[in-house]
Amino acid sequence: MIPGVRLVLLGKQGSGKGTQAVRLARHFVVHHVSTGDMFRAAVRAGTEFGRKAREYMDSGELVPDEVTIGIVKERLEQAGTKRRGFVLDGFPRNVAQAQALSDYLAPQDIHLVIDLEVATEVVLKRLAARRVCSSCGTNYSVDVPPAVNWTCDVCDGEVVQRADDTETAIRRRLEIYQKNTAPLVAWYKDRDHLDVVCGEGPPDEVTSRLIDTIDRRREAGV
Ligand code: AP5
Ligand code: MG
Repeated sequence: MIPGVRLVLLGKQGSGKGTQAVRLARHFVVHHVSTGDMFRAAVRAGTEFGRKAREYMDSGELVPDEVTIGIVKERLEQAGTKRRGFVLDGFPRNVAQAQALSDYLAPQDIHLVIDLEVATEVVLKRLAARRVCSSCGTNYSVDVPPAVNWTCDVCDGEVVQRADDTETAIRRRLEIYQKNTAPLVAWYKDRDHLDVVCGEGPPDEVTSRLIDTIDRRREAGV
């Protein structure tokens, strides 16, 4: 069987982290761990935690670190990710989260962090067009809708626009990305964990680029 991987995907909002994480998790037979998906599931479940998370998410702010770090550790424990690994999508988003992840994984470490690079004008177009299944989170867009009447091809759920895909929230999310997440790129570069991959072009091409990058790192003995 193909060896597993411990991978972090970075990239601004709409760069395709979710789209590609699903494909990479399938390819490397590891778990896809998305903080955004976990928070949206809590919102749908109507828990107290979900109600609090929703206030941050709808306005484009980050959910506080202590809550986010706790939920990720819990998920990594449950999924049995220590054996084969994971694709982390949307976490870490700042240096404090990255440090907490590194402490949690020790004595293991992540294999690779990929910064999925996409121009801001491209992500703005993608986010305006994005539609998601309100039940399972599968991504669509107005250009590539589900086969039947905004009903999810995977689970028959209703396909809708995300509550944080408003102009104001998108602007705020991109600001936060520049302030908190962009410094992470430098932090991982200093630790020799980072590769930058172009996230533009058809999704299949982006997937091939990502897999080639991961395989090359592996051959180099990471
Ligand atoms: P999260 O759900 O992670 O949202 P995000 O960071 O804003 O990123 P997106 O999901 O918007 O973008 P993506 O890169 O996944 O792109 P996608 O694949 O969908 O987080 C939401 C919120 O939760 C945060 O704002 C925060 O409040 C909270 N949160 C989450 N993690 C947190 C953390 N660690 N700490 C604190 N708070 C946290 O693609 C976008 C669109 O483009 C789709 O329509 C897709 O179909 C399309 N597309 C993808 N690839 C291509 C391509 N190659 N060509 C054309 N279209 C494409
Ligand atoms: Mg996403």
